[in-house]
Amino acid sequence: MRLKLVCSAILAISSLPTSISAFSPRHHHRTIYASTRLFTSALETLADLTTLSIDSGCIDTVAKYAKTGLITDATTNPLFVSQAGSNGDVRYEEMVMEAVTYAKAKTCAQDGCDLPDNTLNLAVDRLAVNLGKQLTSLVSGRVSTEVDIRLSYNTEASVERARSIIAMYEEMGVSKDRILIKLAGTWEGIQAAKVLEKEGIQCNITLVFSFLQAAAAAQAGAYLISPFPGRILDWHKKQSGKESYPPDADPGVLAVKRMFAYFRKYKYDTICMPASWRPSRGVNVEGGDVDQILALAGVDEMTIPPPLLDSLSSMPSTVVVRKCDAKADAAACTDPDFLLTEDSYKTYWDTDDCGKEKLKEGIDSFTVETEKLIKILIEKF
Ligand SMILES: *[C@@H]1O[C@H](CO)[C@@H](O)[C@H](O)[C@H]1NC(C)=O
Repeated sequence: MRLKLVCSAILAISSLPTSISAFSPRHHHRTIYASTRLFTSALETLADLTTLSIDSGCIDTVAKYAKTGLITDATTNPLFVSQAGSNGDVRYEEMVMEAVTYAKAKTCAQDGCDLPDNTLNLAVDRLAVNLGKQLTSLVSGRVSTEVDIRLSYNTEASVERARSIIAMYEEMGVSKDRILIKLAGTWEGIQAAKVLEKEGIQCNITLVFSFLQAAAAAQAGAYLISPFPGRILDWHKKQSGKESYPPDADPGVLAVKRMFAYFRKYKYDTICMPASWRPSRGVNVEGGDVDQILALAGVDEMTIPPPLLDSLSSMPSTVVVRKCDAKADAAACTDPDFLLTEDSYKTYWDTDDCGKEKLKEGIDSFTVETEKLIKILIEKF
């Protein structure tokens, strides 16, 4: 099961350095350069240039990494929670049962639930909030909570669900500035972010595979985007038939650099936080697993899975060289800045084969996961 894999990925992290990066404010551009301090591993040096976070639904994994001071943010994943629920861990089981009880109490009468879908949707959100609350007590930074992926093409419904998620957090005493609402990078999802950001609800636009999505998200005032250089590379490899790329010429790396440069040139505050990594130079190249990470050193933030954090901690600090620099990249940016409208966006999007294919694939696979979770919840009712 996936959860077991995630949890068993807990590594010998006692060797990881302690308190490297504290929670940093949004516009952090670090002024302490590696040369002014001595670092022993690539992980420490990288953490000095880029704020690092972890993607895991496993409380124990997040807790262990948070203790090293490396992890400032975290992300909920309801599927992990529900799987853990069936694995017999009481902490998750309690979250699941509370979510079910809560949803019933809010939406059902004595003699049954009129709109079972509403009850189930509320239970899904409540479960994410329960896990999110737990995570906020482990990390000092923000916790992302996703809006139902099935609403990715519905702005209004996404806004409603996001508001309700934030309200539940606030009821539990978790302030909205600790939370990021995750929305898929569709035009409709990005427009939902535009509405929410105006209400002071910060958003994480995920499943970003193209410059167009990044530009629209920045223009909407999104707090953060999560581009996926690994999956962008997958698409280009398939397209070109090439097995490998030099990391600095890797299309996934170049795509993220282009987004970062555009944000900095036109002074958008949006944070560029890539996640999803592949070896640029192909499989079986020593150290290749962190090719894309090293090629993007210096970008605002990164989400890195435990095995790659471990690879970095076993590499010498000299492999880390700043590759993203706000000033230099802004100066090199050749993209114009013009306001995207729904029409112009959709016209460009139509020609964006990588974006279209990968976004659809991402939404489809999250939809399958959400439906699995709902099946599990139905059994608990
Ligand atoms: C934003 O979402 C992405 C994709 O799920 C995740 O990897 C990343 O950690 C999230 N960012 C934060 C700050 O939670």
